[in-house]
Amino acid sequence: MQAAQQYIKDNQDRFLNELLDLLRIPSVSADPAYKEDVQRTAASVADHLQKAGADNVEIIPTAGHPIVYGEKTIDATLPTVMVYGHYDVQPADPIDLWDSGPFDPVVKKTEAHPQGAIYARGSCDDKGQMFMHVKAFEAMMATNSLPCNIKFMIEGEEEVGSEHLGHFLETHKEKLSCDVILISDTSIIDNDTPSITTGLRGLSYVEVEVVGPNRDLHSGVYGGAVGNPINVLCEMIAGMMDENKHITIPGFYDDVEVVSTEERVEMNKAPFNLEHYQKDLGINAVRGEEGYTTAERTSIRPTLDVNGIWGGYIGEGAKTVLPSKAFAKISMRLVPNQSPDKITELFKAYFESIAPAEVKVVVRPHHGGEPVVTPTDTPEYLAAHQAMEKTFGKAPIPKREGGSIPIVALFESVLGVKSVLMGFGLDSDAIHSPNEHYGLFNYYKGIETIPYYYQYYTALKS
Ligand code: BES
Ligand code: MN
Ligand code: MN
Repeated sequence: MQAAQQYIKDNQDRFLNELLDLLRIPSVSADPAYKEDVQRTAASVADHLQKAGADNVEIIPTAGHPIVYGEKTIDATLPTVMVYGHYDVQPADPIDLWDSGPFDPVVKKTEAHPQGAIYARGSCDDKGQMFMHVKAFEAMMATNSLPCNIKFMIEGEEEVGSEHLGHFLETHKEKLSCDVILISDTSIIDNDTPSITTGLRGLSYVEVEVVGPNRDLHSGVYGGAVGNPINVLCEMIAGMMDENKHITIPGFYDDVEVVSTEERVEMNKAPFNLEHYQKDLGINAVRGEEGYTTAERTSIRPTLDVNGIWGGYIGEGAKTVLPSKAFAKISMRLVPNQSPDKITELFKAYFESIAPAEVKVVVRPHHGGEPVVTPTDTPEYLAAHQAMEKTFGKAPIPKREGGSIPIVALFESVLGVKSVLMGFGLDSDAIHSPNEHYGLFNYYKGIETIPYYYQYYTALKS
């Protein structure tokens, strides 16, 4: 193990430069214009795996973007860890809000990252975190210290809902058989406070269309007499939450898991500074469901948020128009035991029922995902706890998070394998936003911690 750690220290500049090269390829999965860049990124990841010493490296095509696979079996009687991550990234828009090019990585120092952070789309989510596993693997292979078997499955469609990965799991159960899935695609509390993610929210995502008159109208000639679809849409959305920020869709909370008082007390002990939180976001107050803390509102409670809204005239200057149509994209984050399909149905029925007579509405469901909670009393989890305790010098805190990784629930239902969510990002790393970054401290801490995971896991299983 010492040899692997020494190898990591000796190669840290190269490890950084290789990540910077990977970040230069704009692997935006949502936009077909980047299809070739997505493929180039898959090829680069495959190449790195191969050079690090993985066998049977493949770039497996899907109906969407390819999956990169690789493995190393050292002894079939030893446990097998499968690393999952994604090489695709979110679109960079709005591009003019970036201080440097989203695909032109630069290292800069910040308050949260005094040692420097890499600014680029995907630096934290998830190229930087995924690549830590490739480099940790390289270090173990180069020093002959990989203690168990390993498989890599790195996908290119996470940011668009992992649409084709479910089918891949169904049809490759044998190939993907393993004892645990190890994922670094979440955050820690801060660089002095390690944590392990023990829950992710689910997701129901819909697009709505509100149609009024059969054409755009002069807002003077018709305004006041004809229902304006944008006004109506705003009213409908506003009505979906009451004054306590409780969602009004009938049945929405029916299946919500009631978290025990003890667990709530426990989760609120995790360090959280409301003042820092507000300052980081440039807000003077938080807002959310009555009766719950910020930590609870972003983990154990479901939400409804408009992600985008459009219609009418949004160009330069003023154009007087009463639009024919209005649109919105709405996400609902879900908690155990809510079902995305059921929530989408409830949303649709409610949205249609509250539409006033002067408009027609259409609800189009997008991708969704099931929520997950992971156990904390298994060797799989304990190994992560021990590994982080070793490298941070502090016991990590279990913490449920608000984001979603829909494939995690399928790992359990299709492959029958549980995941360990050992991420190293910070919530303030601006993932999905302009100026996304990833701390050098976090990148190197991840590479350092991962080999201990394999060591402790193998020991705990033997
Ligand atoms: N890595 C994130 C999820 C995440 C971020 C979990 C921070 C916990 C902490 C992932 O790439 C992501 O963005 N997921 C999407 C899912 C969607 C595209 C189906 C999300 O949460 O919006
Ligand atoms: Mn991610
Ligand atoms: Mn993401």
